[in-house]
Amino acid sequence: MISRLLVEHDHILKTLNFLEMQFLELCRGGTPDYSLMESILEYVQEYPEQVHHPLEDRIFSIVLERVDDAELIQQMISEHKELELKTRKLRESLKLLESHAIPRDTLIDQLSEFLIEQRQHMYIEEKKVHPLIESNLTQDEWEQVQSTVPLYKS
Ligand SMILES: [Fe+2]
Ligand SMILES: [Fe+2]
Repeated sequence: MISRLLVEHDHILKTLNFLEMQFLELCRGGTPDYSLMESILEYVQEYPEQVHHPLEDRIFSIVLERVDDAELIQQMISEHKELELKTRKLRESLKLLESHAIPRDTLIDQLSEFLIEQRQHMYIEEKKVHPLIESNLTQDEWEQVQSTVPLYKS
């Protein structure tokens, strides 16, 4: 059951790697591909919001009642909302930079923080939360939960 979550993380992580290449271009004083960055951020917003976070949130809400470290699970649920908000803010900042309404360094700082936090979130899930899911969720519950989460429509 964890494999679907890992595949989804891989999709997001690969996309973040593309975003990081554009981030480095910005840091080095070059000209990033702004339309590519917009497309990447659109995906990094919509895919987790529509598919990955709803799936995890349903799983986490079941597991939350059964584990000792409920605080960790609660933290992951809160981070979903925070990451979604940060992604929206990042998209706004990108538009503002394109129209020269904010300094370049503002977007650089936001992107730097965003890339770290996204990866850290997935790392903690894989390292600490997935083992809890595997030992606290039945196969039937998994089937039921994943059937309720819509597939991503781009
Ligand atoms: Fe998550
Ligand atoms: Fe995740």
